[in-house]
Amino acid sequence: MITLAIHVEESHGSRVVLESGALQKSRHYLGHLGEHRKTALITDARVSALYLKPVMNALAIPASGLLVLEVAEGENSKSFSTLNELAGSLAQKRFGRGDLIIALGGGVILDLAGFLASIYMRGIRYISIPTTLLAQADVCVGGKVAVNHAGGRNLLGNFHHPEMVLVDPNFLKSLDERDLKSGLAEVVKAGIIGDETLFQLCETRLDDVLRHTMDQWDEIITRALRVKKRIIEKDEKEKDLRMTLNLGHTLGHALETATHFRLLRHGEAVALGMHAAALIARHRGLLSPRGLGRIRSVISTLLPDNAWKTTPNTTILDAMKLDKKKRFDRVPFILPKQVGEVATIWDVDRTEIAAALDEVKKHGPQDI
Ligand SMILES: NC(=O)c1ccc[n+]([C@@H]2O[C@H](COP(=O)([O-])OP(=O)(O)OC[C@H]3O[C@@H](n4cnc5c(N)ncnc54)[C@H](O)[C@@H]3O)[C@@H](O)[C@H]2O)c1
Ligand SMILES: [Zn+2]
Repeated sequence: MITLAIHVEESHGSRVVLESGALQKSRHYLGHLGEHRKTALITDARVSALYLKPVMNALAIPASGLLVLEVAEGENSKSFSTLNELAGSLAQKRFGRGDLIIALGGGVILDLAGFLASIYMRGIRYISIPTTLLAQADVCVGGKVAVNHAGGRNLLGNFHHPEMVLVDPNFLKSLDERDLKSGLAEVVKAGIIGDETLFQLCETRLDDVLRHTMDQWDEIITRALRVKKRIIEKDEKEKDLRMTLNLGHTLGHALETATHFRLLRHGEAVALGMHAAALIARHRGLLSPRGLGRIRSVISTLLPDNAWKTTPNTTILDAMKLDKKKRFDRVPFILPKQVGEVATIWDVDRTEIAAALDEVKKHGPQDI
């Protein structure tokens, strides 16, 4: 069992417990939930079908104290209307300040339920049980919670850290290949930002991961979370350093927006964004040819199919103008200097990005 304490200045932070089989021991980790307060478990339809029974058995919350709230699976549930419905359900059952939310699911559920917890009665406590690799290796720490809005992705958001995070890699056994690859993109990202050993693990074990024959989940997820922990403990509110966690995201978010959240998983868009960032870094002489080769070879396994490529560069570049990190009309680009080190660059221009996009469009899965 590995525990990670996330200390952040302006709030209480989180305690993360990571162990294969952690769910079975959740009573031990989480204490006797529901005995003195009401608990709402928020999940999506797919996770509910797969895991609601085992999770309820493991948590052993008395039925009288538990409200199960199920939303449709997918990014569309990260919306103001779903948030509104969930808040209505809590109010109807007279949830108060001392009550608790459990978020069970992938990044969509953690973002949605965490945001609800952050604003319901000015903030109530919540616990996260992430079930996708993306949520276990990235979303579950850092305290960023949000829903989408027509005006932009994650436009309505907050910082609110879960009191406790229970990471059980056994959930990953039922994850399909696309979602596994999507999560791996964030793991690779963490390696490039700040952990060469993690990147090497990706270089050598990716095939095993995709065949579900990999036995090093604990190490991989812990290393990815440690990179994020190091950064957010220094810069919780993204004044500066935390921006480096956005490697691949400046273009990635624009790609998701330009394809209307329909063609690309989050991690697939991030993989494309990291490819472009590596090309721009090489072009500027920041990254060596060998560094570019290593990054491209790992990313090539994670690339999506070709459907997104019909989206014109101008549409993608225009979507970038919505980036929340924009300052004085400039968007920050995180560029790799080598595996394990990145730099934040503010003067990457449209021509450079368009050239990188043209190159990225030449490649599909496994052909770099
Ligand atoms: N807050 C943050 O710091 C942060 C960071 C990165 C991404 N995100 C957000 O995370 C979201 C993407 O997360 P995601 O990829 O986990 O998406 P998701 O929550 O939609 O999950 C992907 C799919 O996997 C299914 N699923 C979940 N667990 C499963 C399991 N164990 N077995 C089988 N299927 C399972 C879900 O039902 C869903 O269909 C995006 O909205 C993104 O903005 C947030
Ligand atoms: Zn991300």
